[in-house]
Amino acid sequence: MSQDKPFTRILAIETSCDETAAAVVENGAAAPGAVILSNVIASQTDLHAQYGGVFPEVASRKHIEVIYAVINRAMNEAHLGYDDLDCIAVTRGPGLVGSLLVGMNVAKGLALGRRKPLLGINHIEGHIYSLWLTEHAPDIRFPVLTLVVSGGHTELYLMTDHGRYQHLGGTLDDAAGEAFDKVGRLLGLPYPGGPSIDRAARNGNPHAYKFPRAVVDDSFNFSFSGLKTAVLRATKRYEPDRLPVNDLAASFQAAVVDVLVRKTAQAAQTHAVGAPMATAVHIAGGVSANSLLRQEMSAQLELPVRYPPPILCTDNAAMIAAAAHWRFLQGERSSLDLDVAPTLPLI
Ligand code: KG4
Ligand code: ZN
Repeated sequence: MSQDKPFTRILAIETSCDETAAAVVENGAAAPGAVILSNVIASQTDLHAQYGGVFPEVASRKHIEVIYAVINRAMNEAHLGYDDLDCIAVTRGPGLVGSLLVGMNVAKGLALGRRKPLLGINHIEGHIYSLWLTEHAPDIRFPVLTLVVSGGHTELYLMTDHGRYQHLGGTLDDAAGEAFDKVGRLLGLPYPGGPSIDRAARNGNPHAYKFPRAVVDDSFNFSFSGLKTAVLRATKRYEPDRLPVNDLAASFQAAVVDVLVRKTAQAAQTHAVGAPMATAVHIAGGVSANSLLRQEMSAQLELPVRYPPPILCTDNAAMIAAAAHWRFLQGERSSLDLDVAPTLPLI
């Protein structure tokens, strides 16, 4: 990766779901040297908790309300003016169309008004580049086996270079985070289900219930809908106020983690034998914050396993800036006609 000047500073905006986020990052994907100058996240979690999930129209309205304040704060905390920026990056998709549009339109306005290049970024690629914002960045060597586990995605990729991915497998139904959120709701836990189940499981017995582990042949695909149904069936055996929440949470979490670890280990072995050989495993996305997942991946895999810190696991704009960095250096720019793409694929 070549650079004409010593640093590149990117303001990134992320509004794909229910977090309004803006960040300024210097040298996002250059190893070593990424510096997060600011990383502001206004979460709407409390707002959506009453619906038990994200209410799309409420989400986009809230983005409109707070986005300028979030961006101003990101610029102030970075102690920079717009003249100091090289580029405005924004999440283009995948995500909720109304939410994406808010970030995209504000980014376009800033790019036009401040005469800065615009760069639309894939949200999944953002999660993948969150690893370049960690202390592991200088050690990253391609190819890297990457598991993206979030509310919307459960996908295994072999990343062979910057921006180059082989899709190995993914979920056939619910994403892992979606399963956590739905089971959280079944257990009467606060939204989002992931962190709630993670907490409840610490006081539960993971062997209390034998929940199914969907193997989905010998591919690298996942399926979580059968597991969700099994938890639903187990809850029916109890009066609602007598649910053994901690045991159900621990047993469910153990089943999800077991499948994620097994498939990732299988993929790591397969690609460790033939070329190209993965040098490490990266886990990114909201579910990568899960404590059991981290513990088991590190314990059971032979390759080094790396995760972002929790603040960079869930949605944030610093990761979007990191993904934008190397694309910017490649000379990539987006047109001001760029549209959002709610189902944008990574490859
Ligand atoms: O990456 P993210 O913020 O948004 C998407 O791109 O979808 O991921 C959000 C998901 C939610 O489903 C949430 O329940 C899950 O990540 N999550 C967790 C944990 N923290 C967040 N799942 C399991 N354990 C956690 N500690
Ligand atoms: Zn995400």
